[in-house]
Amino acid sequence: MTATTLRQRGPKHLLSMADLDRDDIEQILNLTESFAEVGERSIPRVPALRGKTIAWLFYEDSTRTRLSFETAAKRLSADTMNFSVGSSSVNKGESLRDTVETIAAMGIDGIVVRHGAAGAPRQVSEWTDASVINAGDGWHQHPTQSLLDLYTARQHLDELDGKHIAIIGDIKHSRVARSNALGFSAMGARVTLVAPPTLLPSTLDGWPVEATHDLDAVLEELDICYLLRMQLERQGQAVVPSLREYHNEYGLTSARADRLPNDALIMHPGPMNRGVEIAGEVADRPAAVITEQVANGVSVRMAVLFLLLGSGLDVVDEQRAIA
Ligand code: CP
Repeated sequence: MTATTLRQRGPKHLLSMADLDRDDIEQILNLTESFAEVGERSIPRVPALRGKTIAWLFYEDSTRTRLSFETAAKRLSADTMNFSVGSSSVNKGESLRDTVETIAAMGIDGIVVRHGAAGAPRQVSEWTDASVINAGDGWHQHPTQSLLDLYTARQHLDELDGKHIAIIGDIKHSRVARSNALGFSAMGARVTLVAPPTLLPSTLDGWPVEATHDLDAVLEELDICYLLRMQLERQGQAVVPSLREYHNEYGLTSARADRLPNDALIMHPGPMNRGVEIAGEVADRPAAVITEQVANGVSVRMAVLFLLLGSGLDVVDEQRAIA
């Protein structure tokens, strides 16, 4: 770990998994455990962020990320400022910078940004004093997705040291793959990317991973089988001959799922395309922890919002904040 804890360093933003070391991640996951307990109460609400205002700035569609951030903020008693790009002055040509400065002028403490352009959240962080959380930027990063995946995997596998995860599918266009390659390797896991050549980045220099085009060669040694959907909205041209052929070569079919070790996890960030990257029947098996990932997203995002926006409380006070 760095000499100080994440809280003591007082991080202002969460932009990339590259900004977190193993101890930072462990601190977030440990705090997540406390907030998960809040979610099980009859009134799942604590006053930890009372008086704070958080704005949502989603330039791309979202179901899981947006709803879980909103739920997390409510459970922390934060006020929220809802912004819908589709019904905003963005449609009249207002720039990202002017939009951010307009929202910030109304008084916000945090802003959660999803944008199609890699690096947009980092740019936003230069235009506002509020804390900026990256909720997904282009192909680049999706740090809270990685944190909830790490939390879910740790719940089932205990330690991630030495565990083997295969991330399978459209790696090239995936911010989740980039975040999880960093996150799982930081936690000591072995990461193998599995994809046809057209769905791998042109270079893997700097990626802490191995890569293969042969899914069948790795199945039997996996602790986690992590599927990605084909991100058709980011693919400028055909990258596989057909989705049927892709399913045959790289989909987690029932026959392939039967070859996974008994205690291996099947994970997916959602949204799923059943019958393409994963057979519908496989997505419903007990080994598939996809709805657990979604549920854990709320607790992880509570921990992240609290760490970034909490009022400088020390670790003791963190316990009081969730009391
Ligand atoms: N995993 C994920 O980011 O899902 P949404 O696009 O629905 O937010």
